[in-house]
Amino acid sequence: MLKFDYPKNPEQFNMVEVPDMKHYVDCSMDELFAIQQVAEEIRENANVLLVIGVGGSFLGARAVIDALTPYFRTNNGVEVIYAGNNMSGAYLKQLITYLENKSVYVNVVSKSGSTMEPALAFRIVKEYMENRYGTEASNRILVTTDAHKGILKQMAEQCGYRQFVIPTEVGGRYSVFTAAGLLPIAASGIDIQAFLDGAKNAESDFDNVDIQSNAAYQYALARFDLYSRGYSLELLASFEPRLRKLHEWWKQLFGESEGKEHKGLYPTTVTFSTDLHAIGQFIQEGSRILFETLIHFDEIEEDIEVPFMLNDLDGLNYLAGRSMNEINATSKDGVVLAHEEGGVPVMKICIPKLDAYHVGYLMFFFMKACVISANLLEVNPFDQPGVEAYKKKMLELLKENVVNIHE
Ligand code: PA5
Repeated sequence: MLKFDYPKNPEQFNMVEVPDMKHYVDCSMDELFAIQQVAEEIRENANVLLVIGVGGSFLGARAVIDALTPYFRTNNGVEVIYAGNNMSGAYLKQLITYLENKSVYVNVVSKSGSTMEPALAFRIVKEYMENRYGTEASNRILVTTDAHKGILKQMAEQCGYRQFVIPTEVGGRYSVFTAAGLLPIAASGIDIQAFLDGAKNAESDFDNVDIQSNAAYQYALARFDLYSRGYSLELLASFEPRLRKLHEWWKQLFGESEGKEHKGLYPTTVTFSTDLHAIGQFIQEGSRILFETLIHFDEIEEDIEVPFMLNDLDGLNYLAGRSMNEINATSKDGVVLAHEEGGVPVMKICIPKLDAYHVGYLMFFFMKACVISANLLEVNPFDQPGVEAYKKKMLELLKENVVNIHE
């Protein structure tokens, strides 16, 4: 199903706990049905779904939607757009202008219900929706949050918004298989049943301690091996630009799960061949601090052939009749050879097809590997104490300014 390739044998390491992660893919039939129903309603009534959330509360949905929807928008279907993941006034101002003349639904996603970025964006968007839609606004606003607690939960109760749940035991960056990810993904027209099936099969494939067959375990061990040998940076690379947001999701998953107690690999990402003309020089010949993990899909549905050109003006007729995807795959093989020769260890994750099932499978693979990997580092994969530091300072400054304004 998924092939992990790393030339070194990682067996030399001690076994670590391979945690049970069934509850991360445990969406009930009733919940799935409710999500599909509301997604259908959005698709019938809206041109835009605005997803308000930050970190784990939007990166997963955005990763899947970008990976599985066309590069260039056709006018059909719902456009999923995002807010609450930055604090730019210009962004919000332009967003409100963009929403004019479009039929809008809003899905605000926050497990705690009190994160500053989405809370501020929601305050602005709520006012906009109420001014524009009056009492109908409450039908167009959907809340995804904790089942029992939080300010957002209270607001949903008071304002009569429909609610979806992020289970208490599922942390933000592991929540793509809950309503946090599934609702926007379904609204964009992607088959969430196939996406979940992929994740569930991955869950059962990687739920064992057999290093020989468990690719998630192998990947975690290989990363730890390289980390122990002094590599400090992992570069996730792929050759399909629509995977950029999946890279972002991966970066948050590993960065927030492992980067603590002064430990962890720095996760960063590149999209080839674009970045070969940007950071490729550094990879090939710069400081030897990094290794590369390549994601490769064997089959990508759409493709185009290189045409024959009369007189061969550009000298490329030797490629005439060849498929662009095939050329892209060959460039991948060239990159692997060159980077390995340049002293960059390369790992490969090969997946049969770029579709909903396999994206679900791949994302669960990463989640499982991440938790095993954090266990190897002996850090807690589920907390993010360091994120609080900036929030505390920002709040102090904001409150100080309030005092100054009122003086
Ligand atoms: O992975 C995490 O837990 C975080 O990135 C959260 O998802 C992020 O901080 C948003 O939190 P919340 O959903 O509570 O608004």
